[in-house]
Amino acid sequence: MTVYAELQSEIAAEITAATDLAALDAVRVSALGKTGRISGLLKTLGALPPEERKTTGAAINAVRDVIQSALDDRKATLEAAHLAERLAREHIDLSLPSAPRPKGGVHPTLQVMDEMIAIFADMGFEVAEGPDIEDDFHNFTALNFPKKHPAREMHDTFFFNPDENGVRKLLRTHTSPVQIRSMISGKPPFRLIVPGRVFRCDSDQTHTPMFHQIEGLVIDKTAHMGHLKWVLETFISHFFETNDVTTQFRPHHFPFTEPSAELDVRCSWEKGELKVGSGDSWLEVLGCGMVHPNVLRACGIDPDEYQGFAWGMGVDRLAMLKYGVPDLRDMFAADTRWLGHYGFSGFSAPNSASGLS
Ligand code: DAH
Repeated sequence: MTVYAELQSEIAAEITAATDLAALDAVRVSALGKTGRISGLLKTLGALPPEERKTTGAAINAVRDVIQSALDDRKATLEAAHLAERLAREHIDLSLPSAPRPKGGVHPTLQVMDEMIAIFADMGFEVAEGPDIEDDFHNFTALNFPKKHPAREMHDTFFFNPDENGVRKLLRTHTSPVQIRSMISGKPPFRLIVPGRVFRCDSDQTHTPMFHQIEGLVIDKTAHMGHLKWVLETFISHFFETNDVTTQFRPHHFPFTEPSAELDVRCSWEKGELKVGSGDSWLEVLGCGMVHPNVLRACGIDPDEYQGFAWGMGVDRLAMLKYGVPDLRDMFAADTRWLGHYGFSGFSAPNSASGLS
């Protein structure tokens, strides 16, 4: 065997032994690269006599051609094997069921709160918040509750044990204390809503010890009951997505408003399903009224200069009515099957441009 044939079979064996493209390329460089073995042989030609140079050159070139084509073949083989392996690995069975839907969902109460916030935000209201743990002043006294009002009793209110000074904190029974906090810390005019959790010692088919309210407050120099009616009717029209809204104020009593009213909206119940608009039933929606002068005074606002209105409504009941949830207690039972059924996608934040529900 000539030295060339020996080199050829040595490199051919290396080519066969290369099991991936990187190893094959290393063989190519070591054989045909600038400083490779075959290139090295070609460089020796210059030192040979012309006759010998011709035959030797032809022999080396023949080796080079054989090696080049062996490299090409091996490369094609390895590439085909690599592709086949990838196709096998990345194979997708389109007949398999799709990935399961995420189990979580947005609770109907939170969905409805977001809807309400979106509607009032469009009307120029800002969102105010306050603590769940309140004191007697903000929850009752500043809201003009008389000293002996029954709502202060243990019956309705969750009180904490008295602290070292004998002061009992409580879980707020409504979102109205945030009216007080906002008016004390800010300057009129005010146009705000207060979404939040409230707590009452009450539990039956239509009551849970924790529920949700949205409070509204408008204070300026001229705000009156007519504005209140417009704001609430506009809200109801957006919330129930109907232009057909008729409301009535029913006289009521709240210590913090004078006059006070409950607002009903005309509706019908067809096969147990609520339809807001025409009909011969009235749906009680919220409590409202003109802010009592004593409440303004408690916040350092002169009632001869400023006036305004407020309202408070239960969010959970409106969520149940809008989305057909039958039992209030299920709302807070933390059952993922229930949430899977009644929950909303976390990716569809309500806004009035794209529709609210
Ligand atoms: N705080 C009242 C409640 O929880 C609801 C309410 C009624 C709030 C009238 C108001 C209002 O701001 O003006 O029953």
